Amino acid sequence: MESREEFKKLFSEEKIKKIFDKVFDNQSILTLHSLAKKGFFKTVEFIVSTGKEAHVFRAVDVSGNFRAVKIYKIETSTFHNLAKYLRGDYRFRDIKHSKKDIVFAWAKKEFKNLALCKEAKTSAPRPVAVKDNVLVMDFIGENGIACRTLREHDERDKETLKDYYNQTIEFIARLLYLKELVHADLSEYNILVKGKKLVFIDIGQGVLTTHPKAEEFFNRDVKNITDYFTRQRLEKSFEEAIKDIKEAGKTLKKKQNN
Ligand SMILES: Nc1ncnc2c1ncn2[C@@H]1O[C@H](COP(=O)(O)OP(=O)(O)OP(=O)(O)O)[C@@H](O)[C@H]1O
Ligand SMILES: [Mg+2]
Repeated sequence: MESREEFKKLFSEEKIKKIFDKVFDNQSILTLHSLAKKGFFKTVEFIVSTGKEAHVFRAVDVSGNFRAVKIYKIETSTFHNLAKYLRGDYRFRDIKHSKKDIVFAWAKKEFKNLALCKEAKTSAPRPVAVKDNVLVMDFIGENGIACRTLREHDERDKETLKDYYNQTIEFIARLLYLKELVHADLSEYNILVKGKKLVFIDIGQGVLTTHPKAEEFFNRDVKNITDYFTRQRLEKSFEEAIKDIKEAGKTLKKKQNN
């Protein structure tokens, strides 16, 4: 590969150049470089979010389309947690157990889960590419600014909240009944609000219903969601949400059969 200095030129913002050495290990640089060479993006512009497990950047391709580039940290402290979700998933049963292998499998898992979201016609970022610990997907933003999470919105309008609740039920039902997939980390922190449309993100830990803990994860998702709406004063019980998900499932099956 060209030198680190060469790679730094992919970044347009001074601020990123300053934190460059802290954020990017040599391996991540090689991976970003190879993805950029293939044309998935041209420039990484600025950091959108720095987290425990991943950094998310806005990037842009040659045609001016924005992309979100999520770089999983290899030295993540929570990797034991990641292994728990991978272990029961037959799609990933052959992965090795080094930190690196687990993180790579994790990125691939998020890519595959996003592809399933797309096939189920749910509202989630379209996956563009994945290599090692780097995932490229559509950028969810308005006028180039990343959309805020539902958590940051503090929506009070009852009609809007009802609509958000219905969109969430539809998301859960589509994944479950059309793809047998459970998000497994669903909450107001992993939902972006674009205008009045919810976009569901961060599905790396999503598991198929054959996973031994799928039901536990599913119940936790539903509980997080009903707790959120109840806090916003749109009273929703766990049982009511389960009923609504089943109803949505029936409607989907009917549509499929017609
Ligand atoms: N496709 C996207 N478009 C725009 N912004 C995004 C996109 N994906 C993620 N983000 C932004 O990055 C943040 C973190 O993303 P995500 O929830 O996927 O990562 P995470 O695994 O929770 O990372 P961590 O918990 O380590 O912060 C989101 O809250 C959102 O602000
Ligand atoms: Mg998240």
